[in-house]
Amino acid sequence: MTYNIPRAGNEMRTSAYAGRADDVNAVTILVGTMTGTAELVANDMCDAIAATGREAAVLPMDELAAEVFQRPGVFVICSSTYGQGDVPDNAMKFYANLEQAAPDLGHVQYGVFALGDRTYTDTFCHGGRRFDELLTKLGATRLGEVMRHDASAGTVPEAVGLDWIQAWLADLTSVEAKAA
Ligand SMILES: Cc1cc2nc3c(=O)[nH]c(=O)nc-3n(C[C@H](O)[C@H](O)[C@H](O)COP(=O)(O)O)c2cc1C
Repeated sequence: MTYNIPRAGNEMRTSAYAGRADDVNAVTILVGTMTGTAELVANDMCDAIAATGREAAVLPMDELAAEVFQRPGVFVICSSTYGQGDVPDNAMKFYANLEQAAPDLGHVQYGVFALGDRTYTDTFCHGGRRFDELLTKLGATRLGEVMRHDASAGTVPEAVGLDWIQAWLADLTSVEAKAA
């Protein structure tokens, strides 16, 4: 299965999940990655979300701006960590744009799947954590705890991601039921 993912340099992949999510139950996964692990995780999450009947989309952060949060539905940040606890290169422009534009994200609900390596003791998963702090500051509401995948633990990130997204979707469904 392939995906419709706008990449830096206009590279595109096409998929069953092509197109803009257009319903309030949609889940959009925003991917920050350096070497592709977070994207593999996001693609598997996308399959799992679609299997529940929800619209699902994976968007690499490369060309994103704050306006992405005008999409209907909820969001998952799936981001690794580089440098001194920084967001990865493909997320830097997006992160800076969000900080600068500082939109009111009061309507946004999101989850965070952070990828990192616990051997970086002082900055473990800080890429995902930085997004979490910024979105919270902009008024968005996090659903569930930040999930941190540890590359040094020997677990398969896609498997950990799948377990997490299933539990997260269950939480989301119960929040939606209470709000209905
Ligand atoms: C040069 C370098 C710097 C890294 N810095 C951190 C860090 O500060 N904190 C952390 O938790 N993980 C750090 N990592 C680990 C990555 O975030 C982790 O391996 C992640 O799974 C990579 O995902 P990606 O392939 O999607 O980029 C670093 C890895 C490399 C190669």
